[in-house]
Amino acid sequence: TKKIAIAIDGPAGAGKSSISKVVANELGYLYIDTGAMYRGVTWAVLDSHVDVKNQKDVESLLPSLDLTLEPTANACKVFVKGQDVTNLIRQQQINENVSTIASYKGVREYLVERQQAMAAVGGVILDGRDIGSVVLPKAELKIYLTASVDARAKRRWLEVQGTSNEQSLEDIKKNVESRDEMDKNRDESPLVCVEDAIVVDSSNMTFDETVEHILHLVQERI
Ligand code: C5P
Repeated sequence: TKKIAIAIDGPAGAGKSSISKVVANELGYLYIDTGAMYRGVTWAVLDSHVDVKNQKDVESLLPSLDLTLEPTANACKVFVKGQDVTNLIRQQQINENVSTIASYKGVREYLVERQQAMAAVGGVILDGRDIGSVVLPKAELKIYLTASVDARAKRRWLEVQGTSNEQSLEDIKKNVESRDEMDKNRDESPLVCVEDAIVVDSSNMTFDETVEHILHLVQERI
């Protein structure tokens, strides 16, 4: 069977990363969580007390950032200057600032280049907002994974229950909506559903059904 590239895009909380992880494991593919990279940059910006709104200052941090992604079986670990920030990048403060950081051209160029280099090995699944449109425009399978905003907020809420990143359902819903709004309306690589993407609306599908459906789409292409 041939090894293909799979692009999964969609709004916040659609389940892209948890679904991608399982699909990658099933296929023996490499999973790359590109959102974690934008979150890693955001963590570094906040940690160095740079003003998030100052694009120039944010971009001037990039050359010394030393951001690395270490894909493991259950998660994509993120390191900034050798520090493991995998859990820290899920904090509310990151959720609130990441879409501003991700709107900057220099940040996107820096990360897209890294993502393309990591994907070059083949047999990969990348999830994000601009994978099918910018990062892997030639991906053999492009999926736009979406769900209603209520379904997405509820899932995110369940995910953070019992962790140090607990938030109210209402706060999560507001954050999901405001990130969607920013991600869809920015000038640089906005979230779009590209023409050759297959839309998967998981509002009324279970996790396992969604995984099965995507695996079926992969089978048709390998
Ligand atoms: O996927 P996740 O929700 O972790 O992504 C966090 C944020 O990073 C998104 O809301 C978006 O602003 C940004 N992002 C992006 N392009 C990607 C992946 C994430 O702009 N490919």
